[in-house]
Amino acid sequence: MSQVNLTTRIATPDDVKILLSLIRSAYRGEESRKGWTTEADLVADDRIDEAGVLAKITASNGIILLATTDSGALIACCELIKRDSDLGYFGLFAVDPNQQGGGLGRRMLQMAENYARETLDVKKLEMTVIGVRVELISWYVRRGYTVTGEQRPFPYEHLVNDQVGKTRNDLYFDVLVKDMIAVA
Ligand SMILES: CC(C)(COP(=O)(O)OP(=O)(O)OC[C@H]1O[C@@H](n2cnc3c(N)ncnc32)[C@H](O)[C@@H]1OP(=O)(O)O)[C@@H](O)C(=O)NCCC(=O)NCCS
Repeated sequence: MSQVNLTTRIATPDDVKILLSLIRSAYRGEESRKGWTTEADLVADDRIDEAGVLAKITASNGIILLATTDSGALIACCELIKRDSDLGYFGLFAVDPNQQGGGLGRRMLQMAENYARETLDVKKLEMTVIGVRVELISWYVRRGYTVTGEQRPFPYEHLVNDQVGKTRNDLYFDVLVKDMIAVA
């Protein structure tokens, strides 16, 4: 799997529907259980809707980066936001749950970091991860991220089609950061 050719490009409004399908299938719901890490037992909503994806695509300070295979199939995505002159934000990271565990996530993260460093010119990249997702936090630590100790509230008010009572009510985000200057 890790030898699959990946082509990355910046998403456009025409990509909203395929991105929405990828993101929802990777994060939550039954499809996401095919992957090794899922939020299906933590959060019972749709993660994001078409308007939310479009807003990220058209944001003045951010992009969605997507990766396709040689056949043109969408296989991975993430968002990058330039928060200020030095700080970037990485999020909305998803790999097709049928293709996870073979190194695609690692490669996509590396390509996103390269873009953040070389094109957005950020010195630090931060992300937020639900604190109880310890296996995922460990994965980011193995990729060079540091758990800062800062915690941020989980945005319960922004859930999309939340199934009332099924989302855990004790969630919060851990903030992770990686130095974009020191890394090769
Ligand atoms: C997080 C995600 C993008 C990673 O993509 P991926 O293609 O699976 O990543 P890789 O194949 O590069 O890495 C898989 C890792 O999982 C590890 N792994 C596999 N099965 C595992 C398991 N059951 N428990 C813990 N780790 C496991 C592998 O050892 C490997 O880690 P390593 O490279 O350090 O050895 C992908 O799982 C995903 O889309 N998840 C759902 C959405 C999500 O949670 N996004 C991130 C929100 S912050």
